[in-house]
Amino acid sequence: MRVLSGIQPTGRFHWGNYFGAIRQYIDLQHEDEAYYFIANLHALTTVRDRQELEQLSWDAALDLLALGLDPNHAILFVQSDVPEVSELCWLLMTMTPMGLLERCHAYKEKKEKGLTADSGLFTYPVLMAADILAYDADIVPVGEDQGQHIEVCRDIAQKFNHHRGEVFVLPKAKILDQSAKVPGTDGEKMSKSYNNTIELFEEPKQLKKKIMRIQTDSRPMDEPKEPQTDHLFQLYSLFASVDDRDEMADLYRRGGFGYGEVKKSLAAAAEAYFGPARERRAELQAQPEQVRQILGDGAAMARKKASSVLKRAQEAMGLCPGG
Ligand code: TYM
Repeated sequence: MRVLSGIQPTGRFHWGNYFGAIRQYIDLQHEDEAYYFIANLHALTTVRDRQELEQLSWDAALDLLALGLDPNHAILFVQSDVPEVSELCWLLMTMTPMGLLERCHAYKEKKEKGLTADSGLFTYPVLMAADILAYDADIVPVGEDQGQHIEVCRDIAQKFNHHRGEVFVLPKAKILDQSAKVPGTDGEKMSKSYNNTIELFEEPKQLKKKIMRIQTDSRPMDEPKEPQTDHLFQLYSLFASVDDRDEMADLYRRGGFGYGEVKKSLAAAAEAYFGPARERRAELQAQPEQVRQILGDGAAMARKKASSVLKRAQEAMGLCPGG
């Protein structure tokens, strides 16, 4: 089984990225093959500053390694280091109906807000399909918001296979029920664009401050509360053991406690969870050569796979007249 996923370096990673996706990358890295990449080409549709994109891409590599991505098991690389994917993207675009892309949420939302979208944003799901199909990926671990894009990828692959012969493997999304859509500090989906994120490597003081600002309702302390519909409880559950979570759920149902107590427990749990990775990150930061080597080796392995798949697609489309 081959696992693949990508993550955009559009900001520092947050709890939604981790519990929806990165944690799955780490759990699945022992499969036959695992490919994970930093989607800097996708990020071009939002990050317009050269230095910022370079820095965020580098930060992303450090973060993923510090969190437990092991280059002895997983292939880690930067998307733009594999130009074969961009070529495959063009081949796929010639077979992708406009209507399919018009229904995709990133483009639709921007258009509905009256903002102008560039064609990069419009064709974004095709590049994502190329990312996945170029490595014959079977499983794509993602959060719920990417489910639609994996469906688009399957549609494109099916159409291609139908008209040109069996070239592509059909991938499946792997979305975890319990953290498919991690809420942000305001209860909406945690997202950089909603300005409601809590980053993985916030300094302890800043972390506490952000957690204390999580919005809660104004019910009195004594009133019993339903944990399952409360986003503060959902966030706490991401970190807590089953016993701690059940105990907290009982507290909610009994009433007689304040949200401030839950926030304190959440801050302590989050610090205990990500603190060690923050230290590993500092060590990696002091060894940039080693990180460069990991990304270079990863890109070489990824290119090898992607060029063989690209060749299959080119042949199926009549692009290799000399054989
Ligand atoms: P991106 O960079 O927006 O997000 C990276 C991963 O984090 C997940 N995620 C969440 N999961 C649960 N709750 C949340 N609040 C939350 N916020 C983010 C996302 O679902 C995603 O899995 N288009 C992709 C990047 C990409 C890609 C690919 C992914 C490019 N090519 C090929 C898979 C396969 C994106 O924008 O993810």
